[in-house]
Amino acid sequence: MKTQVAIIGGGPSGLLLAQLLGTIGVESIVLERQTKDYVLARIRAGVLEQGLVRMLEEAGCADRLHAEGHVHDGALISYGEEDFRIDFKQLAQASVVVYGQTEVTRDLYTAREKAGGQIVFNVEHVQIHRADCDNPHVTYEVDGQAHRIDCDFIAGCDGFHGVSRQAIPLTVRREYEKIYPFGWLGVLSETPPVHDELIYANSKRGFALCSMRSDHLSRYYIQCSLSESPADWTDAAFWEELKRRIPTDMAEKLVTGPSIEKSIAPLRSFVTEPMRWGRLFLCGDAAHIVPPTGAKGLNTAASDVHYLFQGLKAFYLEGTEAGIDSYSAKALRRVWKVERFSWWFSSLLHRYPDQSEFDLKMQLAELDFLRSNKAAQLAMAQNYVGLPY
Ligand code: APR
Ligand code: PHB
Repeated sequence: MKTQVAIIGGGPSGLLLAQLLGTIGVESIVLERQTKDYVLARIRAGVLEQGLVRMLEEAGCADRLHAEGHVHDGALISYGEEDFRIDFKQLAQASVVVYGQTEVTRDLYTAREKAGGQIVFNVEHVQIHRADCDNPHVTYEVDGQAHRIDCDFIAGCDGFHGVSRQAIPLTVRREYEKIYPFGWLGVLSETPPVHDELIYANSKRGFALCSMRSDHLSRYYIQCSLSESPADWTDAAFWEELKRRIPTDMAEKLVTGPSIEKSIAPLRSFVTEPMRWGRLFLCGDAAHIVPPTGAKGLNTAASDVHYLFQGLKAFYLEGTEAGIDSYSAKALRRVWKVERFSWWFSSLLHRYPDQSEFDLKMQLAELDFLRSNKAAQLAMAQNYVGLPY
């Protein structure tokens, strides 16, 4: 087989890139290790920056997002019984849209199928060949049958555990990582959200987050230790602990119910440099990971796709390589700012096992400064709604 761009990974990054390339007549083939149902069963954060909303509009995939997504002009930050609101709209003249990542992925699959886009599921043993030459190719198997795709470019959109990052030699690749000493225990429940905006809670007992997917589907998280498992937590224990970490007035309003999903996610900051090697370009989680605190995973995958799409568009439509040559530097410049914000926001809200009394005082002073200083709130708002591409 031959195509212009071979895309490894059928998650949000790969699908969005394929769909955007399709809008300018550039052919691609998406190779996905799992089934479509498996990909769509993943529960992931759903806070969309304006940049991603615009890209989904450009890709012709934003109708349901606009019909069902919830525009949020702000968010609440609480510490103990205190709380204050960051007004994104008033400060940064922008909002975010709350719309499950699963729904974004579903809309992208629907668009690819409607456009006749090529997606191969259940691929195995994907290998990247001659990425540092002008004629790379990818090999893979499906049902034991070997296949080869000759292409102009390879987009590594296969997430943190994919093969693409590993294809860049260790003599070229540099990795930066921070592992956080705690995890997030998340629960999805068919209950109305406790508040009409998100609540990020710092408490003596640890972080908590009150989020949502719709008016009748809520998503809650509590910080937990990495030694725990979801089985250690009954629903009743989870609700009791969540109530102890959010302000009393919110706890009294909280509608509890059976969990329809319960899982623990570890927190990590990770970046690999460069994000390009020859004709191979890394996008999204294949190149970087952020702690979920700032809801930046999907949004940073989107900015990578934006830079790569613009570079490939210039290559195919204008014959210039300037865009693909500047991809890695441009993407990384924004990635590192997002890593900083996600790290800062995580440091502001979580209890760290090795925190000293002084550290705790610094955390409370940072919260108090954010509460009382408009410049600090503006900086947070600009990062939360999305830095410019
Ligand atoms: N071959 C083919 N597909 C693969 C391989 C492989 N060797 N390895 C992984 N994949 C697939 C996975 O099954 C997954 O569907 O690549 C896809 C990667 O998708 P994500 O992990 O969602 O990463 P990305 O598309 O970059 O989206 C980033 O989505 O998962 C969230 O937290 C993440 O919010 C972030 C955003
Ligand atoms: C979520 O709804 O899953 C969510 C929202 C905001 C975050 C993280 C997760 O910062």
